[in-house]
This record gives sequence, structure tokens and C-alpha cells, in this order.
Amino acid sequence: MKDILTAPFMVEMIRTASNMYAHGWDERNGGNISLLLEEEEVAGYLDVKKVLRVIPTGFAAPALEGKYFLVTGTGKYFKNVEYAPEVNLGIVRLTDGGTQAELLWGYSDGGQFTSEFPAHMMSHVARLGVNPENRVVMHCHPANLLAMTYVHSLDEKQFTRTLWQMCTECIVVFPEGVNVLPWMLCGTNEIGEATAEKMKTARLVVWSQHGIYGAGKDLDETFGLIETAEKAAEIYMKIAHLPLKNTITDDQMHQLEKRFNIQAREGYLD
Ligand code: 13P
Ligand code: ZN
Repeated sequence: MKDILTAPFMVEMIRTASNMYAHGWDERNGGNISLLLEEEEVAGYLDVKKVLRVIPTGFAAPALEGKYFLVTGTGKYFKNVEYAPEVNLGIVRLTDGGTQAELLWGYSDGGQFTSEFPAHMMSHVARLGVNPENRVVMHCHPANLLAMTYVHSLDEKQFTRTLWQMCTECIVVFPEGVNVLPWMLCGTNEIGEATAEKMKTARLVVWSQHGIYGAGKDLDETFGLIETAEKAAEIYMKIAHLPLKNTITDDQMHQLEKRFNIQAREGYLD
């Protein structure tokens, strides 16, 4: 068996958690990440027949039967992941229609996966339905996106258009826009179901007055999506109180569509 701490998926997960912390997106235990793994990827590093514990999930997700995930632990600080991966991360396999999670590695202090496990797993199901290559769901609390949900309309089209107008390449990075949920109680199946529903039409879902969810085919892509939206929100928060003299026009957005061969969300541009 190879050392699991040298596995590419583990190295990338640890780097990503540290980077998210360094960006200020994950104060205290804020935020969580789940990464879908292939059995072949895990098998060289773990005895997949050796189940350490079984943890009930509290929901069903039959589409994820037998799937493996590397997931951040509940109450764990992103800043500590790199120093103690085995305490702060875990690898689980979903069984019994997704109602049980078999722990194969990690949560070594007796802990368990993030309290946002429903939102993560349900979002994986939704995104895999759109793109079978999706592997990552990421949640964090970036300050400017959060701030924006206090002062900007939560209408998805308006919220998206404002972000697109803040940096030229936003529309290129997330042409489908961002979806927005009103404030809801976190850590519940209800917010999980609502997030997954929103994930059917966009890889970014804002949780008003809380944070954001991103999804993508790898950790880099997902990080980059959140990074780009957060940069746009930062610019918005710098200029929202100032008289607006210039913007990116819809005509210019159409030029970007052509240049980068992307399609803005239907009905979002004039
Ligand atoms: P966990 O510590 O359970 O992952 O929760 C953090 C969080 O951001 C809740 O939304
Ligand atoms: Zn959160």
C-alpha cells in the first residue's frame, strides 16, 4: 500500500484547503469540500474492504451508491488540514442507497463529515446529471459575495448581470450565471435539496447572508469559479456607493460570447 498522504487527490485537497484559508474564505471551521474519487484511485492507498465505522447520513442518495468521497470534517478548521489531514479529512463510501457512509480513512479523533453533507451529496447528484465529469463541491464564506447579499437584489438575473459587469472575463468563466438562495437554515436536508435544485442550472449557488457553493470537474476549476465571482463582488463593493460612469454593455458581452465561444444564460442579455 502506498502512503495515502502522497496520493495526488490528497495533496491537491490539502493544498486547496490551505489556499482557501489563505484567501480568507474559511474562518474558524467555515466552509467544506467534497471530492468524488474513483475506487481505482483509492485502492492503491487503502484496503477498501476495511470499514472503520459506519455513519448514518440522514438522507437518501441512491445515485451515489458505492461512490467514494474525500470530505472535510465537521467543526474542523481549514487552517489545520495541512498539519493533521487524518483528523480533519475523511474518506467515505456511500451504501444502502446513500443512507449510510462507511468510513475508510480519517476523522481519526472520532469526528465525522461536514454538517453540510446533504448539500454536498445532493449537489453531486445534480451536477453529475448535467456533467458526468463533475467531481467537486465546495462551500465557503467569501466576504464580498456575502456582503453583496445584504445590499444587492437577490434576483438571480440581476445578481448575475452585476457580477458579469464587474470584470470582463466573468461572463466567460461562468456564462450560466450564479443562482441565489434566500437565507435558509444551514446543515439541513432542506437547504441541501434547494441547493441541488439550483445546481441543475449553474455551478455557483449563493447562500444569502452565508456564503457560496461551487461545483466543478476538479478542485482548481471549482476554486477558480468562486475566486472569479468573489473578485467581481469585491469590485462591486468598492464601487456600489459611487456614481457609475462606465460599465460593460450587453453589446460588449455579446462580443465576448463570440470571441470565447460561450453562450450566456438564455434571456440574461439584451
Ligand atoms: P462544518 O464545520 O460542519 O463543515 O460547517 C461549516 C459551515 O460552513 C457550515 O455552513
Ligand atoms: Zn457555511
